[in-house]
Amino acid sequence: MNPLHLRWRGLILAALLCLTYRPFAVASDEPTLTKEQIKQFLLTAKVVHHQATKKGITHTLRLTLSDGTVTHDASFQPIDVHKPLAELPTGSELNFVDSYKYNIAAYALAELLGMDDMLPVYVERKWDGNVGSLSWWLPVKMDEGEHLKQKLEPPDVDAWNHQMYKIHVFDQLVSDSDPNLTNVLIGEDWKIWRIDFTRAFRLNDQLKDPRKTLLRCDRQLLEKLKVLDGNALTEKTKNYLTKNEVKAVMARRDKIVAYFQKLIAEKGEDEVLY
Ligand SMILES: Nc1ncnc2c1ncn2[C@@H]1O[C@H](COP(=O)(O)OP(=O)(O)O)[C@@H](O)[C@H]1O
Ligand SMILES: [Mg+2]
Repeated sequence: MNPLHLRWRGLILAALLCLTYRPFAVASDEPTLTKEQIKQFLLTAKVVHHQATKKGITHTLRLTLSDGTVTHDASFQPIDVHKPLAELPTGSELNFVDSYKYNIAAYALAELLGMDDMLPVYVERKWDGNVGSLSWWLPVKMDEGEHLKQKLEPPDVDAWNHQMYKIHVFDQLVSDSDPNLTNVLIGEDWKIWRIDFTRAFRLNDQLKDPRKTLLRCDRQLLEKLKVLDGNALTEKTKNYLTKNEVKAVMARRDKIVAYFQKLIAEKGEDEVLY
């Protein structure tokens, strides 16, 4: 083959590669890093690009990071608002807090409960003069809002429900005042992730409508809840949760465990645990 022909072949190949190039990682390109490697990457990789995130209300930023080998996106959330009184669509709230610190606290709590595979890895990072949370960008197909709008049925309803029951338990535990449908993300094979806890960790010690959301519980999660240690949580969330916020988590934990124990006594273990 003559050299000119080879050059043309090379050019055509390069053009095809450009056409199929996707600027952001999707499920199939997900690098296989351990959780610790992801944490290190988020803490240290260089920010090479930034843009506004399309969804959401607090104008988070979608950053592209690279360490020279891996290039991946992350969500930067620097909000840290404290108000004596906030007027919200859900009503007025005293001592209102909207803080990136709760994203990091939620991830730490999920790690203690062995359900951190349902949240993106969150770390604290300073970027462009602001400190915020930085989370690994997930290979998302749609969010729960789009799922419901399109009336799609997950192929394995039990598997879907089992994930959702865990999310409901976690939502009760962290007491999120903003658990909206754009904060539930769905990936390949209907895998569910829960993101965005900046309005969680309220100080209520009572559960909210447990009869509506605490329907069933993962066996392992219930065991982890029973042994969740307040001191370990304090240690793991220092700088992110106050003493009273930890105390409220532990009080809600007690209520969740008691709620399921009562439900088991009424309905039998197999109806409640899975
Ligand atoms: N780690 C992530 N992976 C994929 N998408 C994300 C991630 N974090 C945020 N998003 C997207 O960005 C939107 C806004 O981010 P979020 O943290 O919910 O902030 P807010 O709702 O306060 O604006 C989310 O609804 C979601 O669509
Ligand atoms: Mg959100």
